[in-house]
Amino acid sequence: MAAKRGPRARPGVLDIAPYVPGTSALPGAHPVIKLSSNETPFGPSPRAVEAYLASAALLSRYPDGSARPLREALAKFYGLDPNRIVCGAGSDEILNLLASAYLGPGDEAIYSEHGFLVYIIAILARGATPVAAPETDLTTNVDAILACVSPRTRLVFIANPNNPTGTYLPFDEVKRLREGLPDDVLLVLDAAYAEYVRKNDYEAGIELVATTPNTVMTRTFSKIYGLAYLRLGWAYCPTEVAEALNRIRGPFNVSGPAIAAGVAALGDQAHVQRAVEHNEVWRARMEGALSGLGLGVTPSAANFLLLHFPKGNGSSAPAADKFLHERRIILRRVEEYGLPHALRMTIGTEEENRAVLDALAAFMGREAASAP
Ligand SMILES: Cc1ncc(COP(=O)(O)O)c(C=O)c1O
Repeated sequence: MAAKRGPRARPGVLDIAPYVPGTSALPGAHPVIKLSSNETPFGPSPRAVEAYLASAALLSRYPDGSARPLREALAKFYGLDPNRIVCGAGSDEILNLLASAYLGPGDEAIYSEHGFLVYIIAILARGATPVAAPETDLTTNVDAILACVSPRTRLVFIANPNNPTGTYLPFDEVKRLREGLPDDVLLVLDAAYAEYVRKNDYEAGIELVATTPNTVMTRTFSKIYGLAYLRLGWAYCPTEVAEALNRIRGPFNVSGPAIAAGVAALGDQAHVQRAVEHNEVWRARMEGALSGLGLGVTPSAANFLLLHFPKGNGSSAPAADKFLHERRIILRRVEEYGLPHALRMTIGTEEENRAVLDALAAFMGREAASAP
């Protein structure tokens, strides 16, 4: 009898390494300190929760198909054209829609060496080829990206600040990148952590989208707005790009509760501000205290730190991860980002940060360099 043949995924699809999210639970019933997914320790705004709960009365209805109330709220808040905003179920969806619209077999897309893993998956899923541009000091290198451009390049993905490194590119460098790229190459600026950045020379992307026809900025409500569970992101695009995305996205890709919570969250900037201030204080304290323990700490503009452990002895990153798990603390392993000697730590509450510090001090065999 002939061997049975069922449906087959397109060539290459099953070669994609699945995205593995940060660990979120450990065996046993005791609570954990979870600092593995760059979520905010402040949770969502109470106003967003209220809006979400109120939307329960409408569950049998379809939501607005283009997330209009949210696009209008975003347009008002940032001074943008609502017709050039596209919302998605997380910015992950937007990144994938961009890849669907602009990439196919034979095309190349460039990403930065230690860039966000979703880019590689989105590129490969369209049958296109990912091209990694080397970084310098774990930071996106504009010249290295420009050197990767070929006649097949269609798209460049940059996270700014980048996850998992936390490093950022100043606006001058982003402009230089745009100027050096061919006009028919779409530059995607993924600004998932933009709200956390307090640097005079940083610009999330609005300016460049406003002044060039080939740049897109993506944003998320998953990080500082604390709505990761709802899945909500958006992009500000040139008109033609917005038109392309609107043709291929699902007709109701953003749920009604997400739209309502997003509008309410945007209206509570005091909540955002509290998170920014807490992050500024605790990121600096943790940078100092963890360096004091002998760990390498990459300077970060975001709400997380990349910690580098000694190579090849008992204090390796996997050993630290195990040690922390035994103390019910979860950080993020980053081997699949090409960083086998590092762990990524989200800035948590004061209590959580101190617990990490005490545990890592014990791990490194020193007294906790007390956070001021
Ligand atoms: C750089 C970057 N971009 C995009 C995302 C995706 O966020 P979401 O799909 O939740 O909007 C993340 C989440 O970790 C991220 O770190």
